[in-house]
Amino acid sequence: MNPNSRIYIAGHRGLVGSALMRALSAQGFKNIITASRSELNLLDQDAVNQFFKNQKIDYTIVAAAKVGGIIANSSFPADFLYENLTIATNVIHAAYKHKVKKLLYLGSSCIYPKACPQPIKEEYLLSGPLEPTNEAYAIAKIAGLKLCEFYRSQYGQNFIAAMPTNLYGPFDNFHPQNSHVLPALIRRFHEAKMVGAESVVVWGSGKPVRELLYSEDLANALIILMQKYNSDEVINVGTGQGLTIAEIAYQVKEVVGFEGSVVFDKSKPDGTPKKVLNIDKISRLGWKPTVPLKEGISRAYQWAVETDVLTPAENKLKVASLG
Ligand SMILES: NC(=O)c1ccc[n+]([C@@H]2O[C@H](COP(=O)([O-])OP(=O)(O)OC[C@H]3O[C@@H](n4cnc5c(N)ncnc54)[C@H](OP(=O)(O)O)[C@@H]3O)[C@@H](O)[C@H]2O)c1
Repeated sequence: MNPNSRIYIAGHRGLVGSALMRALSAQGFKNIITASRSELNLLDQDAVNQFFKNQKIDYTIVAAAKVGGIIANSSFPADFLYENLTIATNVIHAAYKHKVKKLLYLGSSCIYPKACPQPIKEEYLLSGPLEPTNEAYAIAKIAGLKLCEFYRSQYGQNFIAAMPTNLYGPFDNFHPQNSHVLPALIRRFHEAKMVGAESVVVWGSGKPVRELLYSEDLANALIILMQKYNSDEVINVGTGQGLTIAEIAYQVKEVVGFEGSVVFDKSKPDGTPKKVLNIDKISRLGWKPTVPLKEGISRAYQWAVETDVLTPAENKLKVASLG
């Protein structure tokens, strides 16, 4: 990619897409192509083809997907399978038809088999049964990875795929029911601070180990992959470092400034004891994460407060009616 390359970021308003926009612009890329969902619904195959035909795209990063936490995934499996499969087939096929030079597709650490050895190596993909709660999402994402591999082997396309770990940052989803663990913790501690609660209850023992990567670290990794990585094998992007849920919760408590206590509700399930990626492969390309967890939480929290995503909808209505 050079500064004048025409680079299409699918999903540019999301957590990953918006971080990519900031990182590409900071690195001097001038021709970033975007389209909001109302301008281009990626579920519409004809529209996607027409868009690729008109835009003369050189490079594409597919950061568009239907993404959600455990409740959303297990409540709407048909939507998760249909939408993610359709976005992958529409965008990848259009990129092939309209001669895109290179495409990067995103898988996820949560589509590795449920009982993977730790830390998770790329070769463990498809080596065992999936986590049942996000099976639909995983099947669609695995199909996307395989599309990249097979368009490479059958048509010689330079299509690659990365496997990011759990991400967080500005433009994350802070929805009360549908969010991932970190934004959910930020919301819970923030709400507790606002009402002066004595304690915050965190589900489970606090002992499971998880890995978190700041979205802008991921964006810089993806740009390196676009510049340097050309292979049919997926590549992990994470910190390689695990933290317990308790450690993460206490860091959120500190950043938010909640002064009460944290109670771990051991009657709730813990899930997998440990989930951390092996990052040897991407480390060899010279990338490493730079944003410490506390700094990242602080930036994400600041964004959430400034954009008002933590205020419950009913309070916003009250404020609006007062105004
Ligand atoms: N979040 C994580 O922790 C994580 C971890 C590993 C991998 N990933 C992968 O990273 C990628 C991006 O995830 P994210 O967390 O950035 O998701 P996100 O914040 O929900 O952003 C997804 C983006 O895709 C767009 N989109 C979805 N369906 C669309 C459609 N039919 N037409 C047009 N645009 C559509 C959304 O548009 P709207 O703004 O209109 O909704 C949004 O901008 C996904 O492939 C995901 O699997 C994420």
